[in-house]
Amino acid sequence: MLKNKVALITGASSGIGKATAELFAQEGALLVLSDIDVDNGEKLVKQLNGNKKVAVFLKADVANENDHQKLVTLAVDEFGKLDIAINNAGVGGVQAKTGDYPTEAWHEVININLNGVFYGMKHQIQAMRKNGKGSIVNISSILGSVGTQMSPAYVTSKHAMNGLTKASALEHAEENIRVNSVGPGYMKTPLLAKNLDDDTLTMLTQLHALKRLGKSEEVAELIMWLASDKASFVTGSYHPVDGGYLAQ
Ligand SMILES: NC(=O)c1ccc[n+]([C@@H]2O[C@H](COP(=O)([O-])OP(=O)(O)OC[C@H]3O[C@@H](n4cnc5c(N)ncnc54)[C@H](O)[C@@H]3O)[C@@H](O)[C@H]2O)c1
Repeated sequence: MLKNKVALITGASSGIGKATAELFAQEGALLVLSDIDVDNGEKLVKQLNGNKKVAVFLKADVANENDHQKLVTLAVDEFGKLDIAINNAGVGGVQAKTGDYPTEAWHEVININLNGVFYGMKHQIQAMRKNGKGSIVNISSILGSVGTQMSPAYVTSKHAMNGLTKASALEHAEENIRVNSVGPGYMKTPLLAKNLDDDTLTMLTQLHALKRLGKSEEVAELIMWLASDKASFVTGSYHPVDGGYLAQ
């Protein structure tokens, strides 16, 4: 589905980003992968590259605008263009009520989850303009559509990301650049395990109509479709992949 498409993925060393990289490679894409976790990123690139070089890795912190410029330049230098960008890197942040939320922790989540997506899109769109087309998929959350307690920075970052997705989709539609976001329910990834205890995970399972947590691979399938030319009439929209969480 992605033969010879050049795709950039942030947060590719783990979870949803890693599953997306694996699926994209299987579907013929050429990949620029990035993360702050270098060991797992390089391991993934080694795994994906057989006889032919299909993936490169660059350490990049999404909260640093210059790093996005470097990633886009790498895509063009290595593979000649940028067709697809998946803005996936994100953090959960500390758990506290708004009235008690540490200001520094607030800024950290907003810098990574929201500012990081703006910086990325700005540079990705400039490269896509030169290519005459492009498709951007931002990884939001069910918490980009509804709230929950104890994660005000995360909820805010994901709601705002959906707003940015809509605004930029309108602005760049005539340049043939599509922008969409994806809203996963709770997934079995290190992000979740890092932040929540077993009792909370069991409680969260019950909140999904399918009565289980999702798998990264199930999110990757939707990301791939949105990124591909099959979704040629889809732009500016938010797409849950949530086991029925938002239907209730
Ligand atoms: N796991 C879930 O339940 C869930 C649900 C909804 C949305 N999401 C979203 O999906 C995305 C991926 O999450 P995941 O569950 O795969 O998490 P994960 O922790 O498995 O992977 C996230 C990756 O992002 C990287 N990262 C963190 N900070 C970074 C930074 N500043 N710069 C570059 N890379 C950075 C991490 O090193 C890690 O490899 C996130 O945006 C997350 O908010 C996850």
